[in-house]
Amino acid sequence: SPIRLRDYTPPAYLVDAVHLTFRLNQTATRVVARLSMRPNPAAEPGQDLRFDGEKLGLIRATIDGQPVQVNPDDTGLTVPAALVPDAPFTWEAEVEIDPTGNTALEGLYMSKGMYCTQCEAEGFRKITYFPDRPDVMATYTVRIEGDAPVMLSNGNPTARGDGWAEWHDPWPKPSYLFALVAGNLVSHDDSFTTRSGRKVDLKIYVRPGDEGKCAYAMDALKRSMRWDEEAYGREYDLDLFMIVAVDDFNMGAMENKGLNIFNAKYVLASPDTATDQDYERIESIIAHEYFHNWTGNRITCRDWFQLCLKEGLTVYRDQQFSGDQRSHAVKRIDDVLMLRARQFREDAGPLAHPVRPVEYVEINNFYTATVYEKGAEVIGMLRRLVGPEAYRRALDLYFERHDGQACTIEDWIAVFEDATGRNLSQFSLWYAQSGTPRVRVQETWKDGVFTLTFSQTLPPTPGQPDKEPMVIPLATALLSPEGAEVVAEQVLELTQARQSFRFEGLSARPVPSINRGFSAPVILEQDMDDARRGFLLAHDTDPFNRWEAGREFARAVLVRMLKDPAHAPEETLLEGLHAVLADETLDPEFRALALRLPTAEEVFDAARRDGQTPDPAMIRQALLRLETALARRIPDLRARLDALAVPGPYSPDAASAGKRALRGRLLALLTRLEPDAATARELFASADNMTETMQALSLLVATGQGAQALARFHERWASEGLVLDKWYAVQASLTPPENAPELVAELAGRADFEWKNPNRFRSLIGAFAANMAGFHRADGAGYRLFADWLIRLDPVNPQTTARVAGAFETWRQFDAGRQALILTQLQRISDTKGLSKDTTEIVGRILEAR
Ligand code: ARG
Ligand code: ZN
Repeated sequence: SPIRLRDYTPPAYLVDAVHLTFRLNQTATRVVARLSMRPNPAAEPGQDLRFDGEKLGLIRATIDGQPVQVNPDDTGLTVPAALVPDAPFTWEAEVEIDPTGNTALEGLYMSKGMYCTQCEAEGFRKITYFPDRPDVMATYTVRIEGDAPVMLSNGNPTARGDGWAEWHDPWPKPSYLFALVAGNLVSHDDSFTTRSGRKVDLKIYVRPGDEGKCAYAMDALKRSMRWDEEAYGREYDLDLFMIVAVDDFNMGAMENKGLNIFNAKYVLASPDTATDQDYERIESIIAHEYFHNWTGNRITCRDWFQLCLKEGLTVYRDQQFSGDQRSHAVKRIDDVLMLRARQFREDAGPLAHPVRPVEYVEINNFYTATVYEKGAEVIGMLRRLVGPEAYRRALDLYFERHDGQACTIEDWIAVFEDATGRNLSQFSLWYAQSGTPRVRVQETWKDGVFTLTFSQTLPPTPGQPDKEPMVIPLATALLSPEGAEVVAEQVLELTQARQSFRFEGLSARPVPSINRGFSAPVILEQDMDDARRGFLLAHDTDPFNRWEAGREFARAVLVRMLKDPAHAPEETLLEGLHAVLADETLDPEFRALALRLPTAEEVFDAARRDGQTPDPAMIRQALLRLETALARRIPDLRARLDALAVPGPYSPDAASAGKRALRGRLLALLTRLEPDAATARELFASADNMTETMQALSLLVATGQGAQALARFHERWASEGLVLDKWYAVQASLTPPENAPELVAELAGRADFEWKNPNRFRSLIGAFAANMAGFHRADGAGYRLFADWLIRLDPVNPQTTARVAGAFETWRQFDAGRQALILTQLQRISDTKGLSKDTTEIVGRILEAR
């Protein structure tokens, strides 16, 4: 039965201070918890005392030193009100837990001999009995007993001796921010002085041997700390900040107070082992977790329905940071590509939910693109509507008013209303209504007056048949036929279902550039002919819309090619892309993005909007044909490619990475013209960094010529887990459909396919589901294999299983044959005995789309 937002009640009892003692043992760790508690003055008096607790072996429990008889159940234990003092009291419990048996990676678990924790959202209840909800905030004192050389927890180290260490975190926090790490670790050290003069020790802990791969993460951390001071006036608040890299981790990283725990993939980098994209992800995730110290930790969420309060805001902040560090235009294009690929897809299917959901069965299933990425978009719109100064004032007020509190979206909105005097009740619909708005635009030009008429609709989504119009800020400029801005960019604010905007005093019919910078996360429906597309690709003064014009042009052409396999790609598209490539005034990274063809998924969606039921195999063919036509259109591919070589030792900076990206794009085009992939082979052999190695290897695999290179790569990197992940992923995602499911099955049988490691599982099974033509092969072999592996992983790691299972969310968009095949597999998964709550919820919701 689902948990509902409307059922929220304040906690019956508060916890002011937590004292934990851990006696570490790999299979039988003892945890003694002493909690200073009191009845919550804001709650009904005289309630039972309920603790959450799962998989805990209770040894003893006392209140004020007196044993209390309690009966644990599957989800916790209750002390009857009659046994609970109506004044402050001390609860103490000792439990035994098994970190080794904890393969779900939630609570206290082992990763390669190291103890570590993941408590968000509800993992703390697997460590001890506790009111495990974010509106219960306490200070923590932690004593760790064990023989590990390094034993860490939140806050500051207060004492240590032979076989023990003590920590104290003075900042009250919810239990989901608790962390403990113990193991044989080494640290990469540095320090940072805050602008008010606090010297903060910075330590990145890794397994011995990885200490040489921490420098980039450390640099990103220091830049994040400075940026948060400058952009938001936020300083760090302890004398120590630690990051630990862990091999087995369900998500990207976790913002535990003073002790961030990271998936090693998002910390460790060297030129040999990490690609430019890896460096970029490390920079943004380091920033993200650091920024949570204020947006998440100092101000946290009242309940898990408010998750976007911290996640949407923190994603927005990390996006701003990355844009400032690199290029805003490129960052925006990357973010929108991701938003469309993951969030628009989610919004259009059975898993659609509002940015602030109103019910859930398993909260881990709501760490979604909608909560995170659409949540960030909502903040971007808010900033655009009120302007940057008012945004900053509102944020200052937010930090001042709510520091130390567990808050709601209403609190957040009230801060903006109070700081700006604006009524945001209609705007708040962005938090409540799911689905992606469609905005249709029509133009008229009459007697020197240009009119844009917009109509917005929001399609029905699960549980939401009817919708209200939203506030949609569309940054818009008008361009002259020569490409000059005759009306400078302004924000058109849609608030009604249908609305017109008039522009007077124009001497010629202008070309509108609408939703510049993707100012609103909507689907814009605009009648465009190729002449208009080509014009915007050549002239739009907004880099995002310039890129968008080319992308949209390519999608339109691909839809025609799908309809008619004899259709030759339009010369105007090829010429337009060539012109962007040849324009040396443009950032190479931008040019690389502009030259990238739409993904198979994008073409699939575009063809569906055109009324087709597209076949993934045909989409693949159309994409290959367009890629070949583009390659033929660019005369000097090899010379251009050579000219982009970045001299000197590898550096991950944005400018160098941009050149490598464009060079990689040219290599891909050139490979279309070389039956033996000679240049890719040559560059694979000569590459001295992982970025170029992977560019070449990907092309060899995609053209079915990867065998030798794959063997060499494996030999060289067999002992580097994160690189081995790439070896699996490149094959799973790029192997041509004819033998993709067979190859994946074979790879899954290898001894080094350590499928209990989430990164490895995602590298093979997750990456395969993203290989559209291979996964959706018409005989259903891909679906069967995928379901087999979900069923296998589920009892071991429900959270990762449920997440990967989301790949089936688009199943109703396929032809009847594929739908039937997928349905069989969904039912087989759903009929599995003992299926986890996580996977049951996801598969159940996907099945409801019938
Ligand atoms: N708060 C983390 C972040 O976004 C994500 C942790 C999610 N963990 C989970 N088990 N759902 O940085
Ligand atoms: Zn986060």
